[in-house]
Amino acid sequence: MRKRMIAGNWKMNKTYSEAVVLAEELACALADGTKGVDVVVCPPAVDLKGVGAVIDQKAAPVALGAQNVYWEESGAYTGETAPDMLTAVGATYCIIGHSERRGYFGETDEDVNRKAKALMAHGIVPISCCGESLETREAGEHVAFVVNQIKADTEGLEITDPSKYVIAYEPIWAIGTGKTATADDAQEVIGAIRETLREVFGEKAEGIRILYGGSANPGNIAGFLEKQDIDGALVGGASLKAESFVAMIESSAE
Ligand code: PGA
Repeated sequence: MRKRMIAGNWKMNKTYSEAVVLAEELACALADGTKGVDVVVCPPAVDLKGVGAVIDQKAAPVALGAQNVYWEESGAYTGETAPDMLTAVGATYCIIGHSERRGYFGETDEDVNRKAKALMAHGIVPISCCGESLETREAGEHVAFVVNQIKADTEGLEITDPSKYVIAYEPIWAIGTGKTATADDAQEVIGAIRETLREVFGEKAEGIRILYGGSANPGNIAGFLEKQDIDGALVGGASLKAESFVAMIESSAE
């Protein structure tokens, strides 16, 4: 019932021309479709328009996502991007609450919640990230920590179509480190996230995709997808090359 999703988070990588080349390679490799997998790419903001143009020209089965948004409509917020501005360049998804934004730029659960509401009011699908630090995991508090993040991030959110709200569980210690959580580690937390979503959204929780993220790659993706509550991956490093990203999409086909 939940369609699998592979989302690429390009982070602060790829100049405009590099982003266009990668988008062209993906469009070419996916010309025959994605075998039922929802594919999203999230380039840097200045690359959105160029990547979107390639997707349109080649009718690529790829959706465009941003990596951040601000919740106001417009105004004196230097450096920020409003939801309407994302829509205008073709973005239909947006990552929020990534641990790098929380850690380096002070994004709080309250911010994540406001961003989710603003995006949903504009018809953009949030990919809302959560995840614990190594310290929290070693203290055995990871499940409680992530459950609290989910409660705060979803506070007052109204969901009509559960396919239009996505969560990514990314243990911080596994991001970009080559250290993946085991599929069992991920299912433990993602199962608890699903249970929390049931408390918050009732039966709609069954339709919300929950992705795993943190050194996911072509070699380990299948193991995660065997777990009942894991619906795909948010991919950093392995999304920067068409070959590895496409291999992950292929391994995710049901
Ligand atoms: P990684 O990044 O796959 O390079 O670990 C994932 C993410 O931070 O979204």
